[in-house]
Amino acid sequence: MGDVKLNQLSCSHKIIISFFVLMMGYSYLFALLNLQINTRQADGDTSGLGLATIRDIEITYRGNRGESLLVSKINGSMEQYLSTQEEKVLIEEWVSQGRTEQGYQEIQYIFEDNCVRCHPYDEKPDYPLETYDQVYASAQPDMGPSIGKLARFTHYHAFGFTVFSFLLSMVFLFTSFSPPIRLFVAALPFIAMFIDITSWWLTRLISSIFAYTVYLGGMLMAISLAVIIIGSIYDIWFSPVTE
Ligand code: HEC
Repeated sequence: MGDVKLNQLSCSHKIIISFFVLMMGYSYLFALLNLQINTRQADGDTSGLGLATIRDIEITYRGNRGESLLVSKINGSMEQYLSTQEEKVLIEEWVSQGRTEQGYQEIQYIFEDNCVRCHPYDEKPDYPLETYDQVYASAQPDMGPSIGKLARFTHYHAFGFTVFSFLLSMVFLFTSFSPPIRLFVAALPFIAMFIDITSWWLTRLISSIFAYTVYLGGMLMAISLAVIIIGSIYDIWFSPVTE
């Protein structure tokens, strides 16, 4: 089987294999679109186009841990209800100092004076800010996707990627490039995928440093697919047939 080469196949084989390879590339463009729409805007910067930043990746897999709903709201749509800027600072300090019950005694008046009329326990039970426990919960840091959600996401991606990479790599193995080049290129998507997926988990569980290896894995994936697709099409249609 090692002797069969893409450029020696019948014209109909060449056409169908070319369609397959090109459609895989086309599908991959939608993965990039997804990245543009969903990951690249994670840090709130929605302007223009371009690549996701390390910060976007960090927020996507690890959450925006310095931020909580309470803190983002008192810097956003709820800021207008605070009577002074000091109140905001006091709340932020309480959050950054560990949200203790003791500390809460000193800032409780802020919520009572400014917030509880719209965030009471009975009328708006979905977001009450009347007790220590309620305010504590509203300032829970954003920890990113739950383990369950990330597991589901990984599971779908890992299976899809593996089949996708395997089929493309198999096509590439039948090109007429030298055997070491063929093996190297065909192995790349698997290595890239392993780096990428493992790094999602390391970013979530261990450190945002691994956002860099998520990036590296993603880039390596894109490059290896481009090489496989362009190399296979070139080989099918333009390489000289050697017996
Ligand atoms: C005049 C009524 C009103 C007052 C006063 C008010 N809020 Fe709100 N709050 C709302 C409404 C309406 C929403 C939903 C819309 C939004 O998120 O902007 C909301 C949403 C929130 C949320 C997000 C809830 C969620 O489930 O997304 C937080 C946190 C919050 N408010 C905190 C506060 C704090 C802290 C104060 C006091 C400084 C305050 N609010 C004062 C009306 C109010």
